[in-house]
Amino acid sequence: AIERTFSIIKPDATRRNLTGAVNAVIEKAGLRIVAQKRILLTTAQAETFYAVHRARPFFGDLVAFMTTGPVVVQVLEGEGAIAAYRDVMGATNPANAAEGTIRKLFAESIEANSVHGSDSAENAAVEIAQFFAQNEIVG
Ligand code: CMP
Repeated sequence: AIERTFSIIKPDATRRNLTGAVNAVIEKAGLRIVAQKRILLTTAQAETFYAVHRARPFFGDLVAFMTTGPVVVQVLEGEGAIAAYRDVMGATNPANAAEGTIRKLFAESIEANSVHGSDSAENAAVEIAQFFAQNEIVG
């Protein structure tokens, strides 16, 4: 089925001017960027976004990292987009990421891992709604 997933190009990637390079991998994988904007996350937005990780030891560092610079939030559309994007991103830890994946190509560390992608259809809907109005998504 055609799905939509939510993506963030993280501050480590925008800092190194890799937005276009990441987008090229996304598009080459057959995913369509149907919404996109470059923003600075507030601490409150980052805490809300990562609320599921609130109890984890890395939560504070993660929120701090995500507010160190611009991010690019995106909606990606395509056949099986949620799983397809997770394949294209590669493993959370770039040390474990497969060749050709975004994290293998670009990530600096398990935290500064260049991209986020939704892990389920339910979370994709919640994450998209945090950042985009319906009329900002043009399929
Ligand atoms: P993401 O897919 O955005 O989901 C949660 C984020 O937390 C993850 O990517 C990493 O940026 C970060 N993260 C996950 N595990 C760790 C960890 N063990 N140490 C530090 N950061 C982590």
